[in-house]
Amino acid sequence: MRGFFITLEGLDGCGKSTQLERLAAALSQRGLAVLATRQPGGTEIGTSIRALMIQQHSRLSPVAEVLLMMADRAQHVSDIIKPNLEAGRIVISDRYIDSSVAFQGYGRGLEITAVEALNDLATGGLLPDLTILFELNREAAQARLATRTEKQLTDSAPMTGFDDEQHDFHQRVQQGYWQLAARHPDRIHCVDADGSVNEVHQRVMALVLERLQELGVRS
Ligand code: TMP
Repeated sequence: MRGFFITLEGLDGCGKSTQLERLAAALSQRGLAVLATRQPGGTEIGTSIRALMIQQHSRLSPVAEVLLMMADRAQHVSDIIKPNLEAGRIVISDRYIDSSVAFQGYGRGLEITAVEALNDLATGGLLPDLTILFELNREAAQARLATRTEKQLTDSAPMTGFDDEQHDFHQRVQQGYWQLAARHPDRIHCVDADGSVNEVHQRVMALVLERLQELGVRS
């Protein structure tokens, strides 16, 4: 069996990292081989790139930022994602190509077609079988981020703050995600991220099991 590739997307604070853990655990319990990973940071090189980006974010130009994201992505695809898919595993990545289009393209104003071309180069054209876009309004995402512990913030630091100045940026990212979902309806599925962890998990599971069934993966 060729593996199955799932990516999770959304604004910072949308709850996707918690849902990734729940989804990976639920699929493992069903006896499926699962690998959970993330971008930026799924490899040793990626972890260094992630730390560099968090530290130097305010000084990075948008082009430098997108190229660092792509370096992380290229390494991640070749070292982790491809080999695990080839071994027949379900790979779940917290962020992938759509983050660069939404954040660096729509958010920072880089040309969308240029970001897409870079994505293609970095991934060799490897697309997810399913992308789950977690939908949560900016205020709710901000409120969730405010409850993060110091450890969670060190592990997963949003590169852009949620103060008022950044409001327009997050609006553009949100709209970028919606445009992506409209352009790729077969791949990108929206999930309402408002609700308890359990409620959102049920929505995610329903979607994933349906897609696995369509592709004939035993679940
Ligand atoms: P995370 O905390 O969800 O792991 O994401 C880290 C930050 O990196 C988040 O603010 C989104 C940002 N990011 C981009 O701007 N472009 C990308 O391509 C990726 C993968 C992440």
